[in-house]
Amino acid sequence: MKIAVLPGDGIGTEIVAEAVRVLDVLDLKFEMETALVGGAAYEAHGHPLPESTLKLAKESDAVLFGAVGDWKYDKLDRPLRPEQAILGLRKNLGLFANFRPAICYEQLVGASSLKPELIAGLDILIIRELTGDIYFGAPRGRRTAVDGHFPGAEEAFDTMRYSRPEVERIARVAFEAARKRSKRVTSVDKANVLETFQFWKDIVTEVGKEYPDVELDHMYVDNAAMQLVKAPKKFDVVVTGNMFGDILSDEAAMLTGSIGMLPSASLNASNQGLYEPSHGSAPDIAGKGVANPLATILSAAMMLRFSLNQPEAAARIESAVQQVLAAGLRTGDIWSEGTKRVGTREMGDAVVAAITKKTITG
Ligand code: IPM
Ligand code: MG
Repeated sequence: MKIAVLPGDGIGTEIVAEAVRVLDVLDLKFEMETALVGGAAYEAHGHPLPESTLKLAKESDAVLFGAVGDWKYDKLDRPLRPEQAILGLRKNLGLFANFRPAICYEQLVGASSLKPELIAGLDILIIRELTGDIYFGAPRGRRTAVDGHFPGAEEAFDTMRYSRPEVERIARVAFEAARKRSKRVTSVDKANVLETFQFWKDIVTEVGKEYPDVELDHMYVDNAAMQLVKAPKKFDVVVTGNMFGDILSDEAAMLTGSIGMLPSASLNASNQGLYEPSHGSAPDIAGKGVANPLATILSAAMMLRFSLNQPEAAARIESAVQQVLAAGLRTGDIWSEGTKRVGTREMGDAVVAAITKKTITG
């Protein structure tokens, strides 16, 4: 089993280090190889996704990814910006199915900005299409060309598009996932305005006929954004396009108290996957040792389950995280009165200790 470890920028290096320590104590035979990605790769090699990094990712069974991006790269031409690294990995590896579970841990109910009764027991799964939509349709603007071809552009555009096979395959992923849960899928679109999403809606409906045991409903994205804060527990599996999925998954993550808790998996047709926290590189707190490593540690658990066929090891990590939370340990983002504030490293230490069955002190 080979894992490509790509920490990236900002807090990426700190949180991935903790996930790697957790993987190390599992006594499984992994080969882990680290490479630069994002702004860090741009500094060293002049490109956010160097050939060597892409090659490593392609030949690995899974990629453990931290985060990319920093405001200091905002002025670069689009193709050289750190974000292009993660987009390039998704596209080149064909990682079209992005799983973003939003689970509210019992111990963190108080950390959410929503009333406890709205979010206690929340367990929703956002399935975001990841290699199509306006993210990958032809763009044009001032900063599109590396050689500055459009310096005086007075307009800019990005093209929203989906093809039938792209919608069909993500719809199937959602229906299959729903079969293993409460058998309900909400497809989120903007069919009232956008042709792309009328197309999306029609095809999801068609595919839905192959899954008569799964209940399908459709919701406009603006309404979905509202319902997510009004009555989030009404949702179970939510399937949507790349752009709406980007936005709704941040919103859903925040319902659970902190985006610092939520893992994600991005899979291709052969179950090769990239695993990353749902949050970003948080340059404002980078290097301070205060970031929450749990989303990345839980992403490593998803990696063991989905790509490396090690469900028991995944469960050991998840249970260790529960134990650490139960012991009252909290990084700043999930801290509340009466709990113990710890840093990135201490949180990692506690998870490692729980896995190796040492006593955790809260
Ligand atoms: C995410 C991020 C990325 C996205 C950025 C970093 C390109 O926000 O994974 O949600 O927009 O997909
Ligand atoms: Mg995002």
